[in-house]
Amino acid sequence: MKTHTLLMPLDMHLHLRDGVMLQNVAPLSAYSFSGAVVMPNLVPPVENKADVIAYKARIMAAVPNDYFEPYMTLFYKNYDKAFLESVADEITAIKLYPAGITTNSEGGVSSFNIEEMRVTLQAMSDMEIPLCVHGETDGFVMDREAEFMSIYELLASNFPKLKIIMEHITTKEAVAMLDKYENLYATITVHHLILTLDDVVGGMMQPHLFCKPIAKRPEDLDALLSVALEAHPKVMFGSDSAPHPQHKKESCGCAAGVFTAPIALQLLCEIFDQFGKLDNLQAFISDNAQSIYGICPEFKEITLEERPFVVPANYSGVVPMYAGETLSWAIESVD
Ligand code: NCD
Ligand code: ZN
Repeated sequence: MKTHTLLMPLDMHLHLRDGVMLQNVAPLSAYSFSGAVVMPNLVPPVENKADVIAYKARIMAAVPNDYFEPYMTLFYKNYDKAFLESVADEITAIKLYPAGITTNSEGGVSSFNIEEMRVTLQAMSDMEIPLCVHGETDGFVMDREAEFMSIYELLASNFPKLKIIMEHITTKEAVAMLDKYENLYATITVHHLILTLDDVVGGMMQPHLFCKPIAKRPEDLDALLSVALEAHPKVMFGSDSAPHPQHKKESCGCAAGVFTAPIALQLLCEIFDQFGKLDNLQAFISDNAQSIYGICPEFKEITLEERPFVVPANYSGVVPMYAGETLSWAIESVD
């Protein structure tokens, strides 16, 4: 039987939520990942040192062992330097959301006025705190990410030493930016390596495949696959696994977010194997992220096996991508 071993998998963009949902989903990520960059879009958002410390403690209490490192983030505001110095040791990055663009982002940035942001971004650059960005404008939904490229250019050129991570990229325009600016990096989800808009709304509408940014065109999928499968050194895996209770997905007014945390490694093996690129998965799933972020996760070894794996219908009331369907790789052991 064909097997494949991954060392220290990292999820560089993860929503763990809080309360009961945190209790349900955190163990699933902690089982198969060494660590994850945890998004701060709680209600209210994580935006001060006490919030970061308390949220990290709640995450650690929700995972069954200490093998899992939550890399904490703050919700971007125009913070001053003294504040950033006081919190720097507690965080791995700061996450910027345009106001109202996705779930729980109402308090985000409403205008990209570089002068208003300069103090914060220069301090982050000096202190080597990466800036993670949800890169979408409020334009037409299929064009939002491509339209945001000019804002990435503005940020990247004004702060050439600031590491800027284009989160969950979905377009060929974003892929092209990687080679244009030295300080731009990207995360890619597993669902955006599989889906186009057709899969979401081309037939019966699929609420469990609906997320922000929405999956795009076949040529965008090809561009994403080309950098992921080659494990382009500026590209990392970030699931953007975004759990919502079943009634919020299967409802009139479907919440955005695809829940993939428990099936991500299995799906990635399937995709990379299909293209004969399994040997590149290690760089995509961990090594690139370690270099980009300068992190050294604790040792963890996950072996996957090519055999049928039926995705559970739900995990404590949260429906995963491909619920009830059969994947061709399964997790065999975790050490
Ligand atoms: C995320 C969520 O639910 O928090 N939703 C999503 O569709 N990806 C927010 C985000 O990352 O945009
Ligand atoms: Zn997200």
